[in-house]
Amino acid sequence: MVIKYADFIGSYAKETQCPRDNKPEYAFIGRSNVGKSSLVNMLCGRKDMARTSRTPGKTQLLNYFMINGEWYLVDLPGYGYAKISKKKRKEWERMIRDYLTHRATLQSAFVLVDSNIPPQQIDIDFMNQLGEMQIPFAIVYTKSDRLKPQELESNLQAIRAAILEHWEELPPEFISSANTGLGREEILAYIEQVNAH
Ligand code: GTP
Ligand code: MG
Repeated sequence: MVIKYADFIGSYAKETQCPRDNKPEYAFIGRSNVGKSSLVNMLCGRKDMARTSRTPGKTQLLNYFMINGEWYLVDLPGYGYAKISKKKRKEWERMIRDYLTHRATLQSAFVLVDSNIPPQQIDIDFMNQLGEMQIPFAIVYTKSDRLKPQELESNLQAIRAAILEHWEELPPEFISSANTGLGREEILAYIEQVNAH
């Protein structure tokens, strides 16, 4: 799929404030700092449309980007960031949960998982929650440029094994790098295919 243009539409604190034009959308979810905003920029071919930061907790609202005037990418706040106040963390968790439970136009979520570290229980828990909510999701392994191929493969095997303790099969998965653009074509092709149904 070719992204002809991408426009920032708005940032919202609640699902009820989000666009109501019934266009299909895809949400990027994962632990704080995993690379959600960077991936949105990489897919759009824009450097700084979604704000990124070395410090976790950068994205604090539901951020909407419209692609080709036809569908949305949604950059969400992260989960699991320990260094913010308990109140803020609860607020973000509620925002994400509320979004996921009510957003009828959500076609698929992308759960971003850091390919550099061992499986994290919080990611597995999150995938299980999506399962309970019957929300289709794909996995994107981020920051793959930081690893040698063998290290990457052994990390991915460990993560897949942790997922398969709870799931009968693996969801669609993509290996990505916001630095090199790895995974871009595949992720966009997947979105195109889901949009076509
Ligand atoms: P929050 O909004 O805080 O939840 O973070 P986020 O998930 O949106 O992460 P963000 O895109 O802001 O990236 C966090 C940090 O990781 C930044 O310093 C990015 O430059 C870096 N980063 C993101 N993706 C990649 C990648 O593919 N490769 C490398 N090497 N670094 C990356
Ligand atoms: Mg972000």
